[in-house]
Amino acid sequence: MHTPVSHFIEFVRRSPSAFHAVDEITRTLLERGFTPLSEQDAWSVAPGGRYFVTRNRSSVVAFAIPECGFAPFQIVASHSDSPTFKLKPAAEDEVCGQYVRLNVERYGGMIMSTWFDRPLSIAGRVLVRDGSRMLTRLVDLGRDAVLIPNMPIHFNREVNSGYNYNPQVDLLPLYGGGEARGSLMREIAKVLGVPEDAIASGDLFLYNRTPGSIWGASDEFFSCPRIDDLECAYTSLQAFLLAGCEGHINVFAVFDNEEVGSGSKQGADSTLLSDVLTRTAAALGASDSQTRAAIAASFMASADNAHAVHPNHPEKYDAQNRTFMNAGVVIKHNANQKYTTDAVSSAIFAAICERAGVPVQHFSNRSDILGGSTLGNIANTHASMNTVDIGLAQLAMHSCYETAGTADVDHMIRALTAFYETQITTRADGEFELG
Ligand code: CO
Repeated sequence: MHTPVSHFIEFVRRSPSAFHAVDEITRTLLERGFTPLSEQDAWSVAPGGRYFVTRNRSSVVAFAIPECGFAPFQIVASHSDSPTFKLKPAAEDEVCGQYVRLNVERYGGMIMSTWFDRPLSIAGRVLVRDGSRMLTRLVDLGRDAVLIPNMPIHFNREVNSGYNYNPQVDLLPLYGGGEARGSLMREIAKVLGVPEDAIASGDLFLYNRTPGSIWGASDEFFSCPRIDDLECAYTSLQAFLLAGCEGHINVFAVFDNEEVGSGSKQGADSTLLSDVLTRTAAALGASDSQTRAAIAASFMASADNAHAVHPNHPEKYDAQNRTFMNAGVVIKHNANQKYTTDAVSSAIFAAICERAGVPVQHFSNRSDILGGSTLGNIANTHASMNTVDIGLAQLAMHSCYETAGTADVDHMIRALTAFYETQITTRADGEFELG
């Protein structure tokens, strides 16, 4: 089957870590003729050109310049990371002389109970020494390698009445029997084809090996790991590649570290996006004033998944502003600006979807529920512009096996293709024209 959903599930399978997701994206960009730029070099870009740049190999920004040259930007931003467990530097820990388990810590806010009793593996990046050089290599054990076993109910009678999991005690994965001591780094070196002592350090994470599944009475649902936020990264990439580009510079951005607050050198709270915008402007000959004018006239869609009403807890959702799977792109609203959406950006984005024939839904939290946050408002503190927060409605956010709507992958690709192809012209503060 080659529906957009099965392609997305395959993208997830090939993206076990943020590094692998960005690698997968840059491979596609290269195949499609994009030119890689390095942040460490001077940039030379030209009208009609298409480029991308990575930072830390876990964030990527790509852009397409129209034939007319320098112009305002239309940006879609999503994130490459998902909640998981990170291996500590010395990860192996022997228990009773009979087991080797791995010492891990939480990355982001996962639902811990979902990580038990399922085959897991390990992926990420390592730094490999080669003489005086240090090289980044991505690594994926690619097999069912570890598992976090539950306690038997006979020793934990309260497990079904709200057990308080301790991540330093309950969530450490089993890697092998006693004789496995010392074999983790040996296995990683073997997968990479390098001597074990060449591995200088690593950023290694657990991932869920359960394959994706399309299911339901009419195959209307699908489940797989990391739907938040690879679904938005994947669909925005497809739209970016499909869309023509006239009158504005289309930008596709995927940031790492959203799940831990975006405050890293490669996160949405870094200079990455503003560096790319200002360096592109400078390379196209724009003055500082022209650059600021273009950024002020730019528009961003912050794309991160949204909550579908849970079938067993509809009371947790706002009565009038609730969203469902397969019912279209979600525009997210929050009075305290956890979401950037306002009357301006909501009106513009909804109009674009309407013209593209894509259904739109509006989400607000119940006023007595705090809700989540995302990267749009954070990115806006570095490059400020009209921004809308959008996503696709999904269930079980931050489970290691999430669920979303089969029809929505196509909804988002069509909505964002229309967004990239629409000329949003600012006539005055608060006055716009869609071309
Ligand atoms: Co997210």
